[in-house]
Amino acid sequence: MYGMVNKAIEEMICRMHDETTWERVKARAQVDVDVFISNETYPDEVTHRLVGAASELTGRPAAEILEAFGEHWVLKTATEGYGSLMEAGGKNLPDFLANLPNFHSRVAMIFPQLLPPNFNVSDVTERSLKLHYRTHRSGLASFVVGLLRGLGRRFGTAVRVGLEQSRENGAKHDVFLVEW
Ligand code: HEM
Repeated sequence: MYGMVNKAIEEMICRMHDETTWERVKARAQVDVDVFISNETYPDEVTHRLVGAASELTGRPAAEILEAFGEHWVLKTATEGYGSLMEAGGKNLPDFLANLPNFHSRVAMIFPQLLPPNFNVSDVTERSLKLHYRTHRSGLASFVVGLLRGLGRRFGTAVRVGLEQSRENGAKHDVFLVEW
């Protein structure tokens, strides 16, 4: 994944804890990178190892770290670094979710080697929809839950997210029921 992902993990850990904790996370993950470069790509394993080490060091489950990271990504990384892209995504939660399937095609203009997630929506009502998430990566469902919660906070909309179908339980892809 692009270095900006690992940089955002660094920023979240420094914000929630401190720089010493971040250095300990890197050491525990055996990640020997001084400074992550945003627009360089790193093996996905680096990101997974950082999350795993953060979980071991803080005693919080990895799913909880990924969820917090999803919120941080929307509310800090994306909003502060890519404000205009986020604004183009939609003016409220339902619009933003409806536009999500196309969102990363704009991101790919900035990051040409992006391997983006694939989103689709179905069963749209006034207060809910189903979000279908497909990816060649694994273990990121909790990240998506955090992203959705972050979007709810971005738009000041109370949101409930449930995992209706899960790849971990044998489904072909993850399906989230998002209600607001
Ligand atoms: C301007 C805002 C955003 C930017 C710049 C951005 C950029 C990125 C980047 C660089 C990656 C790593 C993939 C790679 O390097 O190949 C990524 C992954 C991902 N993004 Fe975004 N993203 C943004 C907003 C969002 C939003 C709003 C969502 C969903 C609500 C989202 C969902 C995801 C997911 C789930 C992944 C994990 C990759 C996978 O599932 O395979 N992103 N994004």
